[in-house]
Amino acid sequence: MSFEFFSELVDRYDELKYEILDAQTFSEEHFGFPPIYYKVMETDRTRVESFTKAFERYDFTDKVVCEAGIGTLALTKHFLPVVKKAYLIEYNPDLKDFIEGELAKNGWADKVEVIYGDAMKVVLPEPVDYIVGELMSIYCGNEFQVQIFKNLRQYLKPGGKLLPEYITNVIQLANAEFDEKHKHYPINFTRHLPEQLSLQQVVNEIDLYQAEGLVIEKILEVTPVLTGLANCVYMHSLVQVAEGCNFTGTDSLMPPTVCQLEKPVHLEKGKPVHLHIRFEYGTNLDEAKFWVEQL
Ligand SMILES: C[S@@+](CC[C@H](N)C(=O)[O-])C[C@H]1O[C@@H](n2cnc3c(N)ncnc32)[C@H](O)[C@@H]1O
Repeated sequence: MSFEFFSELVDRYDELKYEILDAQTFSEEHFGFPPIYYKVMETDRTRVESFTKAFERYDFTDKVVCEAGIGTLALTKHFLPVVKKAYLIEYNPDLKDFIEGELAKNGWADKVEVIYGDAMKVVLPEPVDYIVGELMSIYCGNEFQVQIFKNLRQYLKPGGKLLPEYITNVIQLANAEFDEKHKHYPINFTRHLPEQLSLQQVVNEIDLYQAEGLVIEKILEVTPVLTGLANCVYMHSLVQVAEGCNFTGTDSLMPPTVCQLEKPVHLEKGKPVHLHIRFEYGTNLDEAKFWVEQL
């Protein structure tokens, strides 16, 4: 057996450490991503299947559906064949030709209205049975999932469903290596995992049917399970797309992420501290603040 490809990967592990972060860089100007990131998302079966399982669970046959942020139709193509009508929203102008081409080629154009606009402001002409939108990022920190569903959920029929519906954000105190340039980065390879000094604790649950406020401020009591120097938090987001159809983070979406503390702090096993947390949905994790207060 030849290990040529694996050997190259091993040689380049460190070089690839920030690659996923750079590929994911979200443009607020047109709300889009570079082509490589659409490829990363499309090829991630775990991510796509968490949604396709939810489409099957609910049965979209003859339903009216709205999807925000359709991208390259990676999710859309799984429900379009059976729905009665779909309102599809996308802001990235680079995708227009691709989207129109796919709709025409598959004979879906007649039952689809594509809205090239900002899903935070879009007005829908009728109530819908389902609203789909994968505009997530860890803690909803830099994309506009919360703001977009806050606008669109007013068009949901009684008993209608949002996909996803709930996001639980969890946190640990940890120690990771940071270069000068990055205040946060997602974990792409397990060798870059931080040293974890405390167990996972819940920061907040985002109920997308009801979320109103955009700023989250919390103080958690954390009891370290290891003694050591904490210089960051280690963050995960756990998503319920539909009941029983979950998504808990992969490299393409909500990868577990480390973000620096305001100041490194020495922790002692068994000695509780207060972890202060402040972040805002749809901004940038570099603006989030995490700091530890000794008790
Ligand atoms: C994370 S990608 C997901 C794409 C596709 N739904 C998928 O699952 O592969 C999010 C998409 O939403 C679009 N988007 C982000 N914010 C938007 C907004 N405010 N209004 C409309 N589209 C938006 C981006 O351009 C991008 O194509």
